[in-house]
Amino acid sequence: MIKHETIEKNIGLMILLIIIVISGGGLAEIVPLFFQASTSKPIEGLRTYNAVELEGRDIYIREGCHVCHTQMIRPFRAETERYGHFSTANEFVYEHPFLWGSKRTGPDIARVGGRYSDDWHRAHLYNPRDVVPESKMPSYPWLFEEKLTGKDTAAKMTALRKVGVPYTDEQIASAQDDVAGKYEIDALVAYLQALGKTHPNYTNKR
Ligand code: HEC
Repeated sequence: MIKHETIEKNIGLMILLIIIVISGGGLAEIVPLFFQASTSKPIEGLRTYNAVELEGRDIYIREGCHVCHTQMIRPFRAETERYGHFSTANEFVYEHPFLWGSKRTGPDIARVGGRYSDDWHRAHLYNPRDVVPESKMPSYPWLFEEKLTGKDTAAKMTALRKVGVPYTDEQIASAQDDVAGKYEIDALVAYLQALGKTHPNYTNKR
């Protein structure tokens, strides 16, 4: 029997025992999430992003939009009244990586799809102050100049398929043609319009 005094006087042993206790608790909380249907099974009717939306998502990551915008509506009255149904884990099963974010400089955009027209988004991204005078969001004029080639799109979809996103052979085969020649802004707006619209279960707030 180790006496408590022995542990208290031996910092090495104490560290070891603390690590064992914390990893035990951590594993008991984290491991079940990988097997629980509510977190690992896609919400009914969930579709994948198409080739253009997927490229838009990569532009969203490249431009750091997730640094100011979350995509996770919390289950608080103030948020559900403003944005719609709170986010649930099964909506994100095809997301690699997650873009939940943590800093809310701008509004949450998990369900922004359909809230504005494509033209509104284009004007807003070209210069936010043209449509929201008090906005402090940056302008992104270069998105209107750069065109996508689509040469990597099929490879991205194949990689995502390996981690469980159910892209079909046809989607992968036509990916390059779907994307080639589109401006970056077209892809980004297509992605924004898909947010919250990839399954039919929750209604978005206007
Ligand atoms: C420096 C922080 C910041 C960054 C970076 C940023 N935004 Fe914003 N965004 C805001 C703020 C603040 C608002 C609210 C004012 C407005 O509508 O312009 C906003 C509003 C929005 C809205 C309207 C949301 C709504 O429900 O009204 C969309 C859509 C949006 N941003 C998309 C983007 C995209 C796409 C990017 C990356 C290309 C981006 N934002 C980058 C701060 C940011």
